[in-house]
Amino acid sequence: MRGVIAGTGGYLPARSVSNDALAAEKNLETSDSWIVERTGIRQRHFAAPGETASAMGIAACRDALAQAGATVDDVDGVIVATATPDSAFPSTAARIQGGLGVTRGFAFDLAAACTGFIYALSVADAMIRAGQARGVLVVGAEIYSRILDWSDRGTCVLFGDGAGAVLLRAAQAGEGDRGLLSTHLHADGRHGDILQVDGGAGSTGGTGVVRMAGREVFKHAVTKLASAVDEALAANGLGYDDVAWLVPHQANIRIIEAMGRKLHLPLDRVVVTVDRHANTSAASIPLALAEATRDGRIKQGDLVLMEAIGGGLTWGAALARF
Ligand code: ACO
Repeated sequence: MRGVIAGTGGYLPARSVSNDALAAEKNLETSDSWIVERTGIRQRHFAAPGETASAMGIAACRDALAQAGATVDDVDGVIVATATPDSAFPSTAARIQGGLGVTRGFAFDLAAACTGFIYALSVADAMIRAGQARGVLVVGAEIYSRILDWSDRGTCVLFGDGAGAVLLRAAQAGEGDRGLLSTHLHADGRHGDILQVDGGAGSTGGTGVVRMAGREVFKHAVTKLASAVDEALAANGLGYDDVAWLVPHQANIRIIEAMGRKLHLPLDRVVVTVDRHANTSAASIPLALAEATRDGRIKQGDLVLMEAIGGGLTWGAALARF
């Protein structure tokens, strides 16, 4: 039984910060036009002091459950993709489970940086197909504002905070081909150094900050994402014309546009949030899904192609019939 995306939800912290406001606040030598031209980012949301990834994730999960018309009784497990957990342990997933009042099933975090949501979706779908669960909350929750080097203008302007979630539940009789058709995961650890957070017990001992060789990442992004989407479509005997919506990881508008061109999809069939959310890492795809299902762009029956690349390097794609 495949997993069906039954509900989507999102949460963005209240404070939004424009490029100009960020430059002034952090004393950065940058400009709105530089950031918009290179990345498409116009603003981002930042968590309040004391706000946690789990608190944001709980809000996103409640939103997803409400859209699905489900309750915590429908939740057999929580998987959270995050690079900014509340603590090393308990996992952010366990904290979200507790906060929601779910008292059974499993909860664990998964680390695949910006590809985390695709990885988590794949794991949840496999567990549903194996009969280990019928309903799984798949969450991306990130507070990158706590792991940025504010003296590095090449990275600190790129990220924002937020959480997104979906309820993945087992397909029911009569739902046809609704649900996840396939997921495709990749990693190549040889390129780990070009995008990393240099913290943890084996390194600085502290949380660390984002370090990135931007041009290198850009190069890998375009080629690896292109091959992942081709792989996903070929695995299902589908072509570019079958895709109703591309919901890409929101790192950079130039990467997103390159993928749209590759699929021969006009930008009005690509869900874009990077202008308002910036890069929210593992939260970016579920936040985009929450927006586009609520405003009526993604409708039941639509074929939606998701893709992401992030630290690891990790990358992947998922194809879902809504
Ligand atoms: N404002 C003004 N100038 C800047 C800024 C800034 N915010 N950041 C860098 N610069 C300057 C640099 O100092 C450099 O100046 P110099 O020539 O005097 O040395 C110049 O701009 C060019 O720097 P590059 O790093 O080569 O800039 P580039 O054109 O590559 O753009 C960017 C940087 C936007 C990060 C680009 O490399 C990119 O889009 N990379 C893709 C990676 C990405 O999006 N990562 C997001 C996280 S990873 C992920 O989610 C997949």
